[in-house]
Amino acid sequence: MSSSTSSTAPSALYGGVSGRRVTVRDLAAAKERGERWPMVTAYDAMTARVFDQAGIPVMLVGDSAAMVVYGYESTLPVTVDDLLPLTAAVVRGSSRALVVADLPFGSYQGSPQQALESAARFMKEAGAHAVKLEGGRRVLPQVETLVSAGIPVMAHLGLTPQSVNVLGGYRVQGRGQSGDELMSDAKDLERAGAFSVVLECVPADLAQRVTTSLAIPTIGIGAGPSTDAQVLVWQDLMGLTPRPAKFVKQYADLAGEMDRAVREFAADVTSGAFPAPEHSYS
Ligand code: KIV
Repeated sequence: MSSSTSSTAPSALYGGVSGRRVTVRDLAAAKERGERWPMVTAYDAMTARVFDQAGIPVMLVGDSAAMVVYGYESTLPVTVDDLLPLTAAVVRGSSRALVVADLPFGSYQGSPQQALESAARFMKEAGAHAVKLEGGRRVLPQVETLVSAGIPVMAHLGLTPQSVNVLGGYRVQGRGQSGDELMSDAKDLERAGAFSVVLECVPADLAQRVTTSLAIPTIGIGAGPSTDAQVLVWQDLMGLTPRPAKFVKQYADLAGEMDRAVREFAADVTSGAFPAPEHSYS
């Protein structure tokens, strides 16, 4: 087998689980086998269908919807009621991926009971298979309560955008001594029952140490190449975001292609070239 074939061949998790949804057990097994996997965000049924058919094993209905769907400047304004219909659409548009719902700012920090009520809505009303929440030691009671209620929890450390006002901006986290705190938060979250942890905007060597120290998968975004999985916001990876962060690789120029197509449509409408006879009913 040539090296180019082996690098594009699907692993047992990516593209390999068929006829059923991916589960958190599949993700744990992938970590044991040393397999890497991709995760993307999704916010609607048609996009979810494309990613699902491509074999993406995990989709996140991120609170990044606040910015990329609703047009806010940060993730803070989005609510459970805003995210529920998007999550339901992604579940309906997919048949194979594990769908993770992000708990938005203000929907879980108050108490474990508040977290349970919010998470239960995503599971019951939208059909989510897991939830994600941001933070380390301060959310351990929330993680324990959700897990003991049967709700799989994805944790999120490093740059936690819901805390942007405390962090003083969207900047790299975990440099120097704060890396030790992040490591200890990651271990505490694993002990509390989280099934995975997102590491956002942290130095690559710290992400590598966390990944080798944990039995649960780490999912990197701006965390270097050593995490078990990688996640990107789909508008970033497809080239819809005007000024993407340094950690983004754009795999398409969707903004350019959409601009070309809509200008061509407009020109055809103004010239009368569209609709042609084949687009008209007799
Ligand atoms: O909301 C989101 O899209 C996220 C990912 C960037 C991890 O939290």
